[in-house]
Amino acid sequence: MKEEGKQLKVIRCENYDTLSKKAAQYVIEKVKQNPSLTLGLATGATPKKMYAYMVDDYFENKTSYEQVKCFNLDEYVGVSRKSKNSYYQYMKENLYQYIDVQEQHTFIPNGTAENLEKECEMYEQQLADLGGVDLQILGIGENGHIGFNEPGTSFHAVTHVVKLAESTRKANSRYFSSLEEVPTHAITMGLETIMKSKEILLLISGENKAEAFRKLMDGEITTDFPASILRNHPNVTVLEEGAKVEV
Ligand code: GLP
Repeated sequence: MKEEGKQLKVIRCENYDTLSKKAAQYVIEKVKQNPSLTLGLATGATPKKMYAYMVDDYFENKTSYEQVKCFNLDEYVGVSRKSKNSYYQYMKENLYQYIDVQEQHTFIPNGTAENLEKECEMYEQQLADLGGVDLQILGIGENGHIGFNEPGTSFHAVTHVVKLAESTRKANSRYFSSLEEVPTHAITMGLETIMKSKEILLLISGENKAEAFRKLMDGEITTDFPASILRNHPNVTVLEEGAKVEV
């Protein structure tokens, strides 16, 4: 492991199930320690089972989210909140419908806002007003994107509108009926917004993420690989499974 990668604490897990369980336990522990925690949440396939374990815990142990605030990383532009493809629906389906989080404490950018620039500013402000994210959950794209911060995004970007990389649109086309239907743009928290989080839990699962994991640990810190900025953060834990590479 290179010197610059030192701060990244890596926990390698046996499989996806173990990773999900560990991630859920991590979040639950933090919520117990601070019942009015501000969580930063991610979508995609990777955190799905973590949410399922959080839901199980909610039913079994009654961990309460009543005072927890939740801010999502990103949302597609032009996709209505009613659509099954919106991240708004994803959060409802996978987590919010089951737990006692208050609706007014759940934040997600509105991808159908008339003025997207204003929406981004407002989102950034809402987050700042609540003191920023305490614990940010992240997944990673094969090209190293975090949130929807594609390669080339400035490390100083705050919440903004992005043009999605074609590889990202292709990767996400599995949720849409055709590639044409996948939005071309999204709103995402910027890398600076993400870096302001007090703590970060990054989930990396699957062989298709092996290269991204290796680059994260051993590569340069460069905007060509957005996740590499995490090596400058003092409190990141990486939960990894399936990469089958030594780092
Ligand atoms: C997406 C999301 C990211 C997510 C990443 C990986 O497009 N915007 O927040 O972490 O891609 O997704 P998955 O977990 O499905 O591989």
